[in-house]
Amino acid sequence: MGRIILTGDRPTGKLHLGHYVGSLRNRVLLQEEGNYDKFFVFIADVQALTDNADNPEKVRQNVIEVALDYLSAGLDPNKVTIFVQSQIPQLHEMTQFFSNLVTVQRLQRNPTVKAEMALRGFNADAEEENRRGLPVGFFTYPISQAADICAFKATTVPAGEDQEPMLEQCREIVRSFNGTYKCDVLVEPEILLPSNKVCRRLPGTDGQAKMSKSLGNCIYLSDDPAEMEKKVKGMFTDPGHLKVEDPGKVEGNCVFTYLDAFSEPEDFAKYLTDYSCLEELKDHYRRGGLGDMKCKKFLINVLNDRLEPIRARRHAYEQDIPEVYNILKKGSEVAAQVAAETLHQMKDAMKINYFDDAELIASQAAKYRK
Ligand code: TRP
Repeated sequence: MGRIILTGDRPTGKLHLGHYVGSLRNRVLLQEEGNYDKFFVFIADVQALTDNADNPEKVRQNVIEVALDYLSAGLDPNKVTIFVQSQIPQLHEMTQFFSNLVTVQRLQRNPTVKAEMALRGFNADAEEENRRGLPVGFFTYPISQAADICAFKATTVPAGEDQEPMLEQCREIVRSFNGTYKCDVLVEPEILLPSNKVCRRLPGTDGQAKMSKSLGNCIYLSDDPAEMEKKVKGMFTDPGHLKVEDPGKVEGNCVFTYLDAFSEPEDFAKYLTDYSCLEELKDHYRRGGLGDMKCKKFLINVLNDRLEPIRARRHAYEQDIPEVYNILKKGSEVAAQVAAETLHQMKDAMKINYFDDAELIASQAAKYRK
């Protein structure tokens, strides 16, 4: 079996640095390594609608935002199939078949669904005024996500650690399907986490555990240099580090967390020649005598260095939006063919391919013939 890589994002907002270090950067590296047979990246608009049914316009606007983020981050449509989930109707048929293999109780135990339900007020324990009904589509999206993965027989899913429960549930569905229908049509996928631990959950600029649009603590890939600089200058550091001479804490200090995620040894030779590496800079900060602003200016330089090629590609693609839609359309056509082939194999295994089954037709004919 070859290596098939697949991953996707909900188009509910522009992608930020947390997405970049957590997954996007990794995808571009995987693309450049070329160690795969097929590589799919998709925009999960159907999943985005599971809690945005009343706001399809938001999803519609963000499809193009996410596509631009992908292309500007360096995903190459000649190497990676980029597609839109809603354009692959086979996924929804698969979801229906899978939903018969999953219990409500199992879905209720999925920790990611639990956490997301709490966040949206979709659970019984939420405060009265915050409580909302739980859409069936939202509750069952792990099943639809399993279809996203299985349709392409993905072996490798680059994603953040919050997606691990989804992958676990997907593997259970694969085992259940192959076991129930005595076949080996579907393939168990594995998650591929970012190797650098700080990248698995990049904190927001306010020091909160996660960069998230609703918390307003994001730096977006599409931010211009002035916006990015302003956000870095306002970044949470060590509240106990009041004067430059004071010893400072590096743990939980966003500037250092971001440097862990983004800086390379070469950046010191280029922008901060007093230090040879990040450890030296951290040591000085811990001892005292190093101001926040100096570290922030270094981080701004490092981020600009990483973001510059991304901004340039974005600018080019923004001048040709019809071509971006065309890339998505072509990718969706390729993806739909792959998904149709898997669905065909699934229906064969389930023996619901009545019209292609000559043996069935003949035996039924013999049974009824007088
Ligand atoms: N759940 C993912 C997110 O929250 C998006 C997604 C949908 C996905 N289907 C997927 C990710 C399949 C990896 C594989 O962004």
